[in-house]
Amino acid sequence: MSHEDFPTDDPAVVTCGLPYANGDLHVGHLRTYVGGDVYARALERLGQQTAFVSGSDMHGTPVAVNAEREGVSPEDFALEWHERYAETFPKFNVDFDNYGHTHDATNTELTRELVRELDERGHVYEKEIMVAYDPVDDQYLPDRYVEGTCPYCGAHARGDECDEGCQRHLEPGEIEDPVSTISGNPAEYRERTHKFFAVSEFADYLSEFLDRLEGTSNARNQPREWIEQGLQDWCITRDMDWGIDYPSDGDGANGADDADEATGSNAGADADADDLVLYVWVDAPIEYISSTKQYVDRVGADAFDWEAAWLNDADHDGGQIVHVIGRDIIQHHTIFWPAMLHATDHVEPRAVMASGFVTLGGKGFSTSRDRAVWADEYLEEGFHPDLLRYYLATNGGFQQDVDFSWERFRERVNAELVGTVGNFLYRSLLFAHRNYDGAPADVEGASEEVAAAIDEAVADVTAAVNDYSIRDLGDAVTALAGFGNEYIQRNEPWALVDDDPDAAAQVIYDCVQLAKAIAVLFEPIAPEKCERIWAQLGEDGSVHDVTVEAATEPPAGAFDEPDELFEKIPEERVEELNEKLESRVAEATDEDADDGGDADETGADADDASAAETAADAAVEGEDAASDLEPLVEERIGFEEFEDLDLRVGRIVSAEGIEGADKLARLEVDLGVETRQIVAGIKQLHDLESLPGTRVIVLANLERAELFGVESNGMVLAAGEEADLLTTHGDAEPGTQVK
Ligand code: 2FM
Ligand code: ZN
Repeated sequence: MSHEDFPTDDPAVVTCGLPYANGDLHVGHLRTYVGGDVYARALERLGQQTAFVSGSDMHGTPVAVNAEREGVSPEDFALEWHERYAETFPKFNVDFDNYGHTHDATNTELTRELVRELDERGHVYEKEIMVAYDPVDDQYLPDRYVEGTCPYCGAHARGDECDEGCQRHLEPGEIEDPVSTISGNPAEYRERTHKFFAVSEFADYLSEFLDRLEGTSNARNQPREWIEQGLQDWCITRDMDWGIDYPSDGDGANGADDADEATGSNAGADADADDLVLYVWVDAPIEYISSTKQYVDRVGADAFDWEAAWLNDADHDGGQIVHVIGRDIIQHHTIFWPAMLHATDHVEPRAVMASGFVTLGGKGFSTSRDRAVWADEYLEEGFHPDLLRYYLATNGGFQQDVDFSWERFRERVNAELVGTVGNFLYRSLLFAHRNYDGAPADVEGASEEVAAAIDEAVADVTAAVNDYSIRDLGDAVTALAGFGNEYIQRNEPWALVDDDPDAAAQVIYDCVQLAKAIAVLFEPIAPEKCERIWAQLGEDGSVHDVTVEAATEPPAGAFDEPDELFEKIPEERVEELNEKLESRVAEATDEDADDGGDADETGADADDASAAETAADAAVEGEDAASDLEPLVEERIGFEEFEDLDLRVGRIVSAEGIEGADKLARLEVDLGVETRQIVAGIKQLHDLESLPGTRVIVLANLERAELFGVESNGMVLAAGEEADLLTTHGDAEPGTQVK
C-alpha cells in the first residue's frame, strides 16, 4: 500500500453509507455511523483536515415500496424520514459536517452531470433486457418490487440482492420465479431497453485499485474474487418515476406525487430515456460529493476545498477519501463506485471500512418483529449516547459481527468506563482538587514514566487510525487509564503528601496530565464525556478543537471539585430491559401469527433501512431462528468417547489467507507444548489481522489433512455460518485441556 500515513496535507473526506429514508433507526444501524464519526474525529485529532459527510438515500425501491404500502408519495415519505435521521444522528454525537439527501438540487444536478459525462465518454450503452412485469397491475417491477429465487445459490432473494443467501447484487432479469412484492401476483418477464454502465471495461483498473485500497480486509479481499469471476456491466436505469431522470433532455429529479406512480406503468417494449430514472445506486454515492459541496457552500472554499478533495484531473491530485459502510455494500463501493469515479476524473477511495452486522442476543435484528433496540428507545431509557458509542466502537473488530446484549453492555460500561476510565479520573482529580486546587503548581512537567506512557498511547492511537481500527483506538485509551490507576496506586500520593510533598505533587501532576491526555485521545469515542473532562480540568475552548499534541501540553492548573463521569448500571436494569424486549418480541410474533404471517415473509424486506440489518436479520425474519437449527442428535456417546477428543486451549500467533482459496486461512496456534499450523475456513468471516492473541479451542488430535496444499494439524472450533470462534471465558493458558 502506497498511501502516506495520516495525517496528510491533503483534505480528507470521511463518508458514511447513506441510510435509506424509510424507517426507524436502531442500534444496529448506528454502528456504521458511530464508526464513521469516531474515525473522522480521530483523524481531526491527528491534525488531518477532514470533512465528515453523509445524507439520506431518498430514491430507489426500498423507499418507494414502503411509501406505497403507507399510501403516501415517496417524496413526502422520504423527506419525513430524512428529517428524523437528521435529528437523530446528533443525539448520538454523530456530527456530520453536512447531512444532505439525494433528492436535493445539488445531488440531482451533479448526478446528471456525471452520468452525462459517462455517456459522452462512451461508457454507457443500451441493451434490451427482460424486466419483471406484473400483468394484472400493469406495472413494471424493478428491484424490491419483485422477489424470487437467486439464480446463483437458490436462496429466496430480493430483486436487487441475494440478501438471504450469497449476498450478490442481482441485475434486473436475473431473479428466478419472480413475484410482485406488492400484489403477490406472479410476474412475467418483458423486454425493455435499458442503459448499461460498462463496468467490465474497468476490470484491470479495479484490480490495481484494490492493490492500493486500504481499510478493513473484507473490503479489500472480497472484490478480488468478483473481478476474477468476471465483472458484469451494471444496468443503471429503472422503470420508475421516483428517482433522478436519465439525463437525455429531461430536467432533473422526478417527484412522483401520487404514491401509485412510483413505478411507471407504461408497458411498451421500448423504454426511451425519458421514461427511465437512474438506478438508486448511481445517485446515492454521488451524494458523498454533493454533501461535501454543500458543506463547502456553508464554510467557504478557504476552509475546505471540495475540488482538491474529490477531483483527480489536470489541476487536482485528489484528497483522501474514506468510506465507512456496512459489509453488504462492499461491492458497490469497491467496484461500481470507483469505476464511476475513475471514468469521470474523480479521485479513487483511499480506504473502505466495512463493518460487520450487529446482532441482538445472538440473533439478527428484526424491524417487523420489533426485535430491536431502537435508537430513540435507548436514549429514552436514560443511557448516555457515549456509552453506546464506546460499546459499538470497541466490542469486537470493526469488520466482525458484534452482539448487542444489555448484559454485555452493562458489563463493559461497569468494568471499563466506570471501573477503569471513570475511576482513575475521579480518584485522581478529586485528590488533586482537595490537596492542590487542581494541578499542583511548581512541578516542572510530567515524569519520564508518565510522559512515555502518554507518548505510547498517542502512537497507538495514530497507528489505530492508520490501521482503520477504532477498537484499537479505544483499547489504547482504556490501557492508558489502566496505567493511571496502577500508577496512582503504586505511588500512593495519599501516603506521600505529608512525608514527601514534592513527590506527592509530582504524582498528582502526572495524574492530571494523564487525565488531560485521556480527554484528548478518548474524544473520538466519547465526545461529550471528554468535553466534560476538559471543562473539569479548567482547560480553555473545546477538546473537539485540539490535536493529540495537547495530550502532552501542561495542564491548565486550577479546577473545581470533579464529579463522577460514568455511573454503574445495576443488574436489575438489565433484567428489566431484557423483559421489555422479550415481551415486545413475543407480542409482535403473536400478532404476526394472528395476521397469518409476517408481511416480510410474503413481501420484500422493505423495512431494511441499512447495512446493519441484512443477512442475519433476514435469517430471523424469514422464519423463527430455532426452526433453522439442526435437531439435537439423539444418539448418545459415552464419556470415554468424549475423552478421546484432545481439546486444548490455543492462542493464535498468526493468521493469513491462503492464496487462491476463498475461505481458508493458515493459522499458527500456540498450544503451550508446541505451535501448530492449522487451516481454518474463516478467511472472509474474520479480520485476520486482528486474530493474533485470540484464545481459541482446538481439537488437537484430529488427523492431519491437506487443504489447498497446506497441511492442517488440528482444528479450530467455531460456531455457525459466521464461524464464531470458540474462546475461553477466563485466562486459561495455551495447552490447557478442555473438559
Ligand atoms: O444499502 C443501503 O442502505 C444504501 N442506502 C446505501 C447507500 S450508500 C452510498 F453509496 F450511497
Ligand atoms: Zn444467492
